[in-house]
Amino acid sequence: MAIGFYNFAELHSEEFRKQIKERISSIVDKNAFIEGEYNVAFEKEFAKMQGAKHAHLVANGTDAIEIALIAYGIGKDDLVGIPGISFFATAEAVVNIGAKPVFIDIDPATGLMDPASLKRVLQKHKLKAIVPVHIYGQPAPIKELETICIPLNIKIVEDGAQAQGTFLPNGPVGSSKNLATFSFYPTKNLGAFGDAGAVLTDNDALSEKIVSIRNHGRSPQGHKLFGRNSRCDSIQAAVLHLKLENVERYNKTRKEVAKKYHEQLKNVPIRIAPANFIESSSWHLYPIGLSSREQKYALKDFLQKNEIGPSLFYEKSMAEELPLQGAPGEFTKAIEFAANTLCIPIHPFLKDDEIKTVANKIKEFLKNNS
Ligand SMILES: Cc1ncc(COP(=O)(O)O)c(C=O)c1O
Repeated sequence: MAIGFYNFAELHSEEFRKQIKERISSIVDKNAFIEGEYNVAFEKEFAKMQGAKHAHLVANGTDAIEIALIAYGIGKDDLVGIPGISFFATAEAVVNIGAKPVFIDIDPATGLMDPASLKRVLQKHKLKAIVPVHIYGQPAPIKELETICIPLNIKIVEDGAQAQGTFLPNGPVGSSKNLATFSFYPTKNLGAFGDAGAVLTDNDALSEKIVSIRNHGRSPQGHKLFGRNSRCDSIQAAVLHLKLENVERYNKTRKEVAKKYHEQLKNVPIRIAPANFIESSSWHLYPIGLSSREQKYALKDFLQKNEIGPSLFYEKSMAEELPLQGAPGEFTKAIEFAANTLCIPIHPFLKDDEIKTVANKIKEFLKNNS
């Protein structure tokens, strides 16, 4: 039996489909297509799950980053620090609002933004904001980054697109003083039936601004600013609200899968995430590091031949992507990390024998290819 990277069949069970159909039918009956009752309910419950005062649904995770940066007053020609390891959207959001990305290198053990690199970059570039990414669901070192940024009034937007259920030392992503953003792209730990995202904050004034920006600059007193259309429709909110019932249970199962992979791969000559991330990561993805780009592609081919679906997150560091070539900053470690990193299947429905098969196939490959 093939071992896929995702398992939508079990996620969207018969019972789930039945309940979703009922919800969609009620939305149609009420003609409540945009920002309806499920939006309100989801925002309240998701804020609670992530330890935030306010959660605001928006159209997608890229808009969420853009809106967060705009709410902080970041705009034309401002310099914004980003890590080299993330989905392209992190950089794109910075560029889309007229700001300029500056790369901050990553910790080669995790792919997360490295505070030591931030300190070096700040000696050359006057950053207005940084966007650390909780990549793969791992917690970025927010406390260490805050220690550097707060005295310099550098704003922090936490890109938590992959971090539904990720824990920082003081609470979940969304519970810090920073704006935190999420994506609910269908493959995420909490995924819609299309696109959706959210911005979380504990700050009432920022909360008001975010609500206004996402809906054409509207406010109860009329239009006070130019916004955009980044509303989330009621069907996506209904799906997300229903899925919220299970996400914490599924995140727990992801941790159990990660723990089993860690046990089976700990003495294997590959890089795995630090063991202390077992409890704190959302385990959106399970990255492993090989000794070279060639070995990574060879393992990918080997796993695919054995009906296992690995995936490359990310084929290149963002600094190597054509539109970002020439952007300043530090990214040597990000280039190396992207070159040798491969993600193996992790989802809440992975069975013990499947975990064992994946681990054993990696061991078999390395025995013959080291
Ligand atoms: C780290 C990261 N940031 C931003 C995004 C953008 O989210 P969306 O695709 O919902 O716009 C994603 C989506 O995959 C992501 O993984």
